[in-house]
Amino acid sequence: MMFRDIANCHRWQLQRQECWRDPPLRKCRLKLGTWCWPSFAGGIAWNCRRCSDWWQLGNCTDATTMLTMMDVGNGDCILESGSGSGAMTLFLSRAVWSSGHVYSFEVRKDHHNRAKGNFQCWRNAYGMAQEKEWPNNVDFINKDIVFATDDIQGKIFDAVGLDMINPQVALPVISTHLKQGGVCAVYLTNITQVIDLLEGIRTYRMSLSCEKILEVIHRDWFVAPALRKDGSRAPRVEPQWNINALEHEEGEDSGKMKDDDEEDDTKSFCTVPYVARPHHRQVPHTAFLVKLRKLKPALQ
Ligand SMILES: C[S@@+](CC[C@H](N)C(=O)[O-])C[C@H]1O[C@@H](n2cnc3c(N)ncnc32)[C@H](O)[C@@H]1O
Repeated sequence: MMFRDIANCHRWQLQRQECWRDPPLRKCRLKLGTWCWPSFAGGIAWNCRRCSDWWQLGNCTDATTMLTMMDVGNGDCILESGSGSGAMTLFLSRAVWSSGHVYSFEVRKDHHNRAKGNFQCWRNAYGMAQEKEWPNNVDFINKDIVFATDDIQGKIFDAVGLDMINPQVALPVISTHLKQGGVCAVYLTNITQVIDLLEGIRTYRMSLSCEKILEVIHRDWFVAPALRKDGSRAPRVEPQWNINALEHEEGEDSGKMKDDDEEDDTKSFCTVPYVARPHHRQVPHTAFLVKLRKLKPALQ
């Protein structure tokens, strides 16, 4: 039996419904005749697709950039809002691992249930594949983060991740529970939302400073042997040199080099011309990532 990374398998798109239909997830048989266990990336993709709201955290690179911004590490205590599909929660859960904890708030009951279910589904799948437990390190809380004061009483968070509409309304509650120097990373689709966020911070004089606003941009490349219109391989066409002109330009040396060239014994190598350019279709805009750091208010 062969175990393969499901995310690397081109049949994943066809097979994923079958694979993930029944939590707890079981290993699945692919048309290729091999057996697969789901990868973390596959789990994330599935989380995103199962959420009723079509968002969802644009891509894994956005999520890992959020993690880097937040500087999340083993043992950290993290606050997140909203849970959505639970995709970002999974990244956070993996980063803080068994000695850390994630508190994930979600105002919508259906999204809350979905995120919880997805997380449990992933834990089951991981448990079966790895024969060890994924830590049960997330508290999913079905509540508006604006009214979370009681739930987070006495807690100080190492970092906060916000992916929700109007994050500025959550900041007064959150910022008192964020450690000094800690980062609140905010995920926003429109630049006008970024402006509203910064204006909210300025208006309410919150001790948060904006360190960075960025967009993660991917450029997928296409590299493959060139094909003719009829689908056959195009032969490599040697560029035509004007040897006389070269000799004239470089003197006698260039002629000597030509004479010394040994017989080419790798004829099959470099005989095929390649197409190598960015893909026509690129990953579209996903979101802006805003890094806010809690700083002590300046002494008056
Ligand atoms: C874009 S989704 C989050 C996606 C999530 N990061 C993921 O990985 O799937 C935004 C979520 O925030 C939730 N939300 C919006 N306002 C909220 C609030 N005030 N408190 C808690 N959740 C909120 C929405 O219901 C929605 O599920």
